[in-house]
Amino acid sequence: MKYLSKEKIENKKVLLRCDFNVPIKDGNICDDSKITKSLDTINYLLKNNNRVILLSHFGRVKGEEDKTKNSLKIVYEYLKKYFDLEFISNPLDLTVVNNSSKKLFLVENTRYTDVPEKRESANDLELAKYWASFADAFVIDAFASLHRAHSSTAGISKYLPTFLGFLVEKEIESLKPLIDNDDYPFVVIMGGAKVDDKIKIIEGMLKKCDKLILTGGILNTFLKVMKYPIGDSLASSDEEVLESVKKIITESASKIVFSSMFTVKRGNNNLEVDIHDIKDNDIIYDNIINDKVKEVVESAKVIFLNGTPGLYEREEYTKGTKNLFDTLSKSEAKVFVGGGDTASAVAKFNYKDKFAYVSSGGGATLEYVADGKLKALEFIMENEIQN
Ligand code: 3PG
Repeated sequence: MKYLSKEKIENKKVLLRCDFNVPIKDGNICDDSKITKSLDTINYLLKNNNRVILLSHFGRVKGEEDKTKNSLKIVYEYLKKYFDLEFISNPLDLTVVNNSSKKLFLVENTRYTDVPEKRESANDLELAKYWASFADAFVIDAFASLHRAHSSTAGISKYLPTFLGFLVEKEIESLKPLIDNDDYPFVVIMGGAKVDDKIKIIEGMLKKCDKLILTGGILNTFLKVMKYPIGDSLASSDEEVLESVKKIITESASKIVFSSMFTVKRGNNNLEVDIHDIKDNDIIYDNIINDKVKEVVESAKVIFLNGTPGLYEREEYTKGTKNLFDTLSKSEAKVFVGGGDTASAVAKFNYKDKFAYVSSGGGATLEYVADGKLKALEFIMENEIQN
């Protein structure tokens, strides 16, 4: 793999794949860190007299109706503050690049090409080839998208010399202690809303870590399988997932740790209750960190956190998240954080400087830590054109 930091790209046309999939609240970008983290690469390429075409996905586009709410125009407006750039509103027509005097372009959401038929997400190589026909080099800086081998993250490498940008290099370098795994006890903390797409990750983590602390919505699913009466609390109802969770509990019980205190909504009241006092109509919104979890955190050398213990966006359910961040910040372990939502919570409660590293990746970081591999990089390594 070639690194941008070690090669000189100048006077070229460059396709630069970033991850501008930033969170939006009330029509505004509420955390711009994914954009700012790619500014070094953009500035470097522009400084070396390259013309740069920015590609990114934005949200999920499954049908025509998803397009308007997932337009990259909002990122274009943001970038306009820093650069003189042009917006290309149709990702299937980049001809404007050849007729414009601008040095920087932002192409509309690459996932627009998934409607009516999946192209970008199916790693359609014709699409990759079309995009590649407008450039001489491909730079990938979208670390947070590297768990997807799509046309814009992987396919293009078949047609253009490919380089890893500064952000990808920094992420790979910074996450090394989690991949090398030579410092232990290694503790993984997984929380957040969903478990369905994380089963494989949990299985991968259990092979690597010494203890797995479960919290948040993920924990609810485990409680459900253990037959606690969690009522309508957020939890998976997918039979296959529940079966896998059952297997995980049977095979890895000694590695799994969780706190037994929860904030539940009972009628109109929020109450802190122990696991044995949960009633069927309670809805669990927060998992409060207890001494058992603190003990595991205190004995760790390396910790990887992904996901929060509760619905931290709502003031009444922030206790678990603040508690956990506080416990982590006091531990002597190196703490690594991954996940868009988790990173936002870390920023919101001002813990950014207290941890060893906050990754820009969500699913990508999880897969990388659990598996040591990223699908886009695997594709690039097998397919990139040599020159
Ligand atoms: C992320 O936010 O984790 C990345 O941008 C990937 O988004 P995706 O899960 O929609 O592919």
